[in-house]
Amino acid sequence: MSLSIIILAAGQGTRMRSDLPKVLHSLAGRPLLEHVYASAAALDQNGIVIVYGHGGEQVPRELQHLKARWVEQAEQLGTGHAVQQVMTDIPDDHTVLVLYGDVPLITAATLQQLVAAAADTGFALLTVHLEQPDGYGRVVRDDHGRITAVVEHRDATPAQLTISEVNTGMLAVQGARLKQWLAALDNDNAQGEFYLTDVIGMAAGEGVEIRGLQPAAAIEVCGVNDRVQLAELERHLQLQQARQLMRDGVTLLDPARFDLRGSLQAGRDVSLDVNVIIEGKVSLGDNVRIGANCYLKDTTIGAGVTVLPQCVIEDAEIGARCRIGPFARIRPQTRLADDVHVGNFVELKNTGVGTGSKVNHLSYVGDAEIGRDVNIGAGTITCNYDGANKHKTVIGDNVHVGSDTQLVAPVRVGAGATIGAGTTVTRDVEPGALVHNKVEQRCVTGWQRPVKK
Ligand code: UD1
Ligand code: CA
Repeated sequence: MSLSIIILAAGQGTRMRSDLPKVLHSLAGRPLLEHVYASAAALDQNGIVIVYGHGGEQVPRELQHLKARWVEQAEQLGTGHAVQQVMTDIPDDHTVLVLYGDVPLITAATLQQLVAAAADTGFALLTVHLEQPDGYGRVVRDDHGRITAVVEHRDATPAQLTISEVNTGMLAVQGARLKQWLAALDNDNAQGEFYLTDVIGMAAGEGVEIRGLQPAAAIEVCGVNDRVQLAELERHLQLQQARQLMRDGVTLLDPARFDLRGSLQAGRDVSLDVNVIIEGKVSLGDNVRIGANCYLKDTTIGAGVTVLPQCVIEDAEIGARCRIGPFARIRPQTRLADDVHVGNFVELKNTGVGTGSKVNHLSYVGDAEIGRDVNIGAGTITCNYDGANKHKTVIGDNVHVGSDTQLVAPVRVGAGATIGAGTTVTRDVEPGALVHNKVEQRCVTGWQRPVKK
């Protein structure tokens, strides 16, 4: 049986108090709508329709990588009106699944059950029991327990308001029937809206069995209306991801202080200390240890690497057994071969460092290629920028760069060369040479330091 999935994402989201459309707010590093989309796509990637409206073209533009038909609901006249916008292009024999773009944790498994139930009876509704049902549509059942209607909070009688079973909004229904019922909707209600929920009363009136289903966990149907709820879902999802990683064999010193905003692939016996943030696509080899308060983004790290606390590593490739940090900043396009040491207060950018080389203290190395077994002394700086263009520094194997050296690029230092401390290297250095600037030391004997008056 074929499926069309409609994701409603046109609403304003007033309570976010934001210039950004609600469904673009980020949960674990991805827009809310993308989470819903992922669960929908697990069922069927081909029949997804997204209704957008508030925020205009921003939503489809930001999410243009999603394979979907985008339909604008220019005026938000209600959930029923939103679904009406897309129905003409939906085949009669499809089952239609309606989802909300601001209910991000719905699982594919629950949706699968909803669709299967609809195949059985023609109509399935996802409901949930809430201790605080305020604001939600109530699910009205008859004496036999059959669903007869959903009544919106503002239209409900006092007796109906005591019902704790509420409509999650998610439903699956036979396409041709839905078209008929939608055509009969009116907006004669407390909010003056075209309610999608009115089709439930219509279907029940025609003797259709509406199968009520509950999600495995209530969190699946929690919507995001404000930033408090967004933060609650964020914590929930983070803990869920953390537990999955631990089950997969990763040690998290504190699962409550770990954030994954993307995907993490980890080898065996990887250990992450507290407050590690992983963004984008990160891969860690066996026995990698990441210290406290590190931020890793779009990076591959080889086996046996230790990253000490307080490092920022972005868009980098790091070989096996490297030791990095504490307090190192590794910027995009940095490539470290195996057994490289990068120490405290070192910044690397667009630089390759060869096997066994060390940049241990207080250095900036940018746009450079460093060979094997090179030692870069404390306070070394590549002067790679002339104010207009970036230039390259090339350092051969086994070079010894003394402390407080400036390498004015473009410049090449041949293999085995030695650079004396405090040298400003402005011209290429031959292999095996010693280079230093002539600095004379003056000595004033018996010097009296000024004393405080
Ligand atoms: C809706 C349900 C209610 C249910 C609740 C669950 C109706 C009439 N009511 O109420 O029974 O308990 O969800 O959260 O359906 N949207 C559009 N276009 C519109 C209006 C809404 O795309 O014109 C989208 C919103 O962006 C949102 C979803 O539909 O994702 C739900 O809209 P919302 O206004 O939040 O519905 P509720 O009043 O909460
Ligand atoms: Ca809502």
